[in-house]
Amino acid sequence: MTNTRLVEGSAPAFEGRLTRQGVSRREFLKFCGLMAGTLALPARYAGRIAYALETAVRPPVVWLNFQDCTADTESFLRASQPDVDDLLLDILSLNYHETVMVPSGRMSVKSLEDTVRDYAGQYVCVVEGSIPTGDGGVYCGIGGRTALSIAQEVCSQALATLAVGTCAWEGGLAAAVPNPTGAVGVKDAVPGLATLINLPGCPVNVANLTATIVHFLTFQQWPETDGAGRPLFAYGEEIHEECPRHDHYEHDEFVQEWGDAAHRQGWCLFQMGCRGPDTKHNCPSVKWNDGTEWPIGAGHGCLGCSEQRFWDRHSPFYVPGDDD
Ligand code: SF4
Ligand code: F3S
Repeated sequence: MTNTRLVEGSAPAFEGRLTRQGVSRREFLKFCGLMAGTLALPARYAGRIAYALETAVRPPVVWLNFQDCTADTESFLRASQPDVDDLLLDILSLNYHETVMVPSGRMSVKSLEDTVRDYAGQYVCVVEGSIPTGDGGVYCGIGGRTALSIAQEVCSQALATLAVGTCAWEGGLAAAVPNPTGAVGVKDAVPGLATLINLPGCPVNVANLTATIVHFLTFQQWPETDGAGRPLFAYGEEIHEECPRHDHYEHDEFVQEWGDAAHRQGWCLFQMGCRGPDTKHNCPSVKWNDGTEWPIGAGHGCLGCSEQRFWDRHSPFYVPGDDD
């Protein structure tokens, strides 16, 4: 993990790096097809994505961990189909990430300072976790500075800021009542950012984070977003409308108790507290665990983890919500 000058990529160099990482050409093209699908683009865009990734300038990235549980980093590092984490690390120049970087202490802080100074207006800032503002921000400090002061300095000089996970979007769990640390998301800690993309979820789905970056590298623009700054490709459709259990909902076929016959037959989980009717996220199509499963597929209702203040609005979680 080193600072690299912004240089135009080349296909042979890119392919060489992939080979060294054990990623075959076939897996790379499969990844590009997956990205086209996640971005809701026709399959023919896979070739354009492949060309863009092979030749793109690798943007420097700094990843800030604030008041968080590190689940977004886990989501980022655990992806393996086909080695999304390796591909992403190859597409980007990850200059600073406290959890995975080699330098520690003063040297790690220097990596951040160097990137902000040398690449002002050119680096991408990823923020994970909420930012405490209570009592002058004393509840989260890194290298002798508050998270609030770091966020204000680093996000304001970035090309774009990506707030990953619900905490970085609007405070998440830490901001649940009574919010003892005064936790907020990036949008409130650093208001007025020119480009702030919010990727909520508890945690973020790495497919959506990757697709957002791939969209930028392919089209030189960030994906279109809704009024909350969430990319429409990922947060444009209601889970309820895309849910494979929707027919059961329409026919009033509901699970009434965990493990009952209706549960075993895959009926609707609305009576068990499913918040799918109140949640926009592409979980039914992109899924989790390398696209193998997702909460409702595994028999658990949606908690609405990508929606505003879901901890307060949706708890207690296992009682029916409002479906209109
Ligand atoms: Fe699916 Fe939940 Fe809607 Fe039922 S309430 S159809 S389980 S999203
Ligand atoms: Fe979250 Fe619901 Fe998807 S709980 S992971 S938005 S199915």
